Amino acid sequence: MKEIKKYSRYIITISIIVSFVFLFTKCIDKEKEKTVSAPPTTKVNFDEFAGSDACISCHKNIYNKHILTAHYLTTRPALEKYIKGSFEPGKNKYVYDSNMTVMMEKRDSGFFQVGYYQGIERITKRFDIIFGSASKGQTYATRFKNRIYQLPVSYFTAAKQWANSPQFPTHPVIFNRPITSRCLECHSTFAQKISAPGVEPEEFNRDHIIYGVDCEKCHGPAAKHVAFQTQNPTDTVGKYIINPAKFTREQKLDLCGLCHGGRLQKTTASFQFTAGDKLTDYFNIDQTPPNPDSIDVHGNQFGLLRASKCFKMSTTMTCITCHNTHENERGQTALFSQRCMSCHNDQTAHTCKMTATIGNAIKQDCINCHMPLKSSNSITELIAGQKNPTAAMIRSHFIAIYPDETKKIMTTIISHTKKNKH
Ligand code: HEC
Ligand code: HEC
Ligand code: HEC
Ligand code: HEC
Ligand code: HEC
Ligand code: HEC
Ligand code: HEC
Repeated sequence: MKEIKKYSRYIITISIIVSFVFLFTKCIDKEKEKTVSAPPTTKVNFDEFAGSDACISCHKNIYNKHILTAHYLTTRPALEKYIKGSFEPGKNKYVYDSNMTVMMEKRDSGFFQVGYYQGIERITKRFDIIFGSASKGQTYATRFKNRIYQLPVSYFTAAKQWANSPQFPTHPVIFNRPITSRCLECHSTFAQKISAPGVEPEEFNRDHIIYGVDCEKCHGPAAKHVAFQTQNPTDTVGKYIINPAKFTREQKLDLCGLCHGGRLQKTTASFQFTAGDKLTDYFNIDQTPPNPDSIDVHGNQFGLLRASKCFKMSTTMTCITCHNTHENERGQTALFSQRCMSCHNDQTAHTCKMTATIGNAIKQDCINCHMPLKSSNSITELIAGQKNPTAAMIRSHFIAIYPDETKKIMTTIISHTKKNKH
């Protein structure tokens, strides 16, 4: 009883503070993204999805590898096993200034970001949804009624510590930057928006969300496929399901370009694009090639690749020429280099001019010289005590000759060979 009373007092205090903070920061956080128009009926509906757990019984191998990919992990419910940052005393705080500290706290009912002003607890928000596999970092969202808000403290993998969320102010500390349907469209498989077009912050059905870039993002909603194959176990031809292997080059590129094509301006409601569709039916796309030095948002892999000689001079290259999206292949440089050599080998005569200089070792790494890491402009996080945010490093998909990178790498190769000779 005492507990409950305490709890409700607590809730009231928090609500007062929350509404205060909301009022305070509302003007700062006007969302720019506006829905232009929504189709009269929804083309894609929640009940057409089966969820990837429904695929296990028949596609176990793919499923088991898929759950280790950045795609699957890119949004998850806030379970301990998925949150990368530490809740241990000493490691669980982000100090904004002498007055304001946010502590990451594990309590009986979950994980919380707790704002303390001069040591007094002022605002408490639960971690509800995790964004990010943490290859670069994670940011966290909390639910408030049917809305979803990004929290002020993120996890920054390069520094292995908590950091201020990208592009968040440090004064005031805000707990209410809305997560938009476009955020979710790139980081989840489906979320059902229930607020009218143009109403901000947007509202979502709490139960109708499919986390992660899951099977059905690339294969289309599959409830019908699951039902059919279950009822017809001897049928060995997959029915009611999309296989991107059968797509044209444009369709393949459009599927990946939905989320890897930079800032697209949507012209219909989110989540209506389905694998196989034409991206230009849903978005206005800026066709001017991006400046290779502007690597975002967060990484415009499609735009940069399209600007590369490699892509322009080949008639077949798509993202899946180099990426097997069912597997986590991060960091496997030699494997990726083999995929370069499927086109650049002695038979095609398109070999690297450095081959003679470097010798056999060249086969291990085409990547660092021709697709160097560059600083992100949008994934930048402020570490406590530093003046300027640190940028995450992103792999450039502008495949080209970078003399400076070559110099750096040649120096390490030469010093390596010298060491081996002694
Ligand atoms: C009851 C068994 C069963 C379940 C459950 C099932 N599938 Fe299938 N699926 C099959 C069979 C059988 C085929 C045809 C043989 C093959 O390609 O493996 C198939 C084929 C496929 C294909 C290739 C289609 C083509 O045209 O080449 C895809 C993609 C696919 N399934 C995706 C899924 C996804 C995603 C799920 C979960 C949402 C799922 N399947 C659940 C049985 C199943
Ligand atoms: C619904 C949006 C969406 C679609 C469609 C999509 N991706 Fe992604 N992809 C993402 C997001 C978001 C990430 C970042 C995940 C993370 O690290 O949290 C990502 C990460 C990746 C990565 C990095 C993997 C790693 O280990 O870090 C590769 C490679 C990739 N995607 C390739 C593709 C290819 C190829 C396609 C098309 C077949 C595709 N993606 C389609 C959203 C998408
Ligand atoms: C156009 C699609 C798109 C939109 C919109 C988008 N993201 Fe991303 N996001 C990506 C991709 C793709 C990556 C993988 C890194 C890269 O390629 O730049 C990524 C990376 C991330 C990461 C780091 C993931 C990791 O594991 O390292 C976080 C966190 C993140 N996004 C959060 C958000 C939030 C929050 C929003 C909305 C405010 C958002 N993103 C909007 C596509 C998108
Ligand atoms: C990021 C997009 C993406 C995701 C997520 C994804 N797939 Fe695929 N899948 C593809 C592409 C692309 C192909 C065609 C590959 C090719 O051309 O060889 C494919 C092919 C397939 C096939 C045909 C047979 C094969 O092995 O190539 C099956 C079956 C399949 N996927 C099932 C699944 C299941 C089940 C999941 C989730 C556990 C899943 N996929 C998740 C993109 C994806
Ligand atoms: C010519 C080969 C090639 C093609 C084509 C290609 N990629 Fe990549 N991609 C790579 C390599 C190599 C890496 C670095 C992998 C690593 O080290 O883990 C990479 C990394 C990525 C990453 C992770 C970036 C990061 O910094 O974490 C994403 C996302 C990605 N690719 C998406 C795409 C998409 C989308 C397409 C199609 C528009 C595409 N790639 C086409 C070779 C390619
Ligand atoms: C699908 C085939 C294909 C694949 C895979 C491929 N390339 Fe290429 N690449 C080409 C073609 C075609 C050209 C143009 C050759 C010419 O100049 O005639 C080219 C050109 C290049 C150039 C010259 C660029 C310039 O600006 O002069 C470099 C460097 C290069 N590729 C590196 C790579 C690397 C590194 C990879 C792997 C990450 C890769 N390529 C994968 C087909 C491919
Ligand atoms: C140490 C850095 C380095 C590595 C490793 C490297 N390259 Fe290169 N590559 C270069 C430089 C520098 C040039 C330009 C040389 C010149 O024009 O004299 C070049 C040129 C090329 C070209 C253009 C050739 C032409 O005829 O214009 C291709 C294609 C290429 N590289 C592919 C690759 C592939 C594939 C690999 C991996 C097997 C690779 N490179 C590994 C630095 C590198």
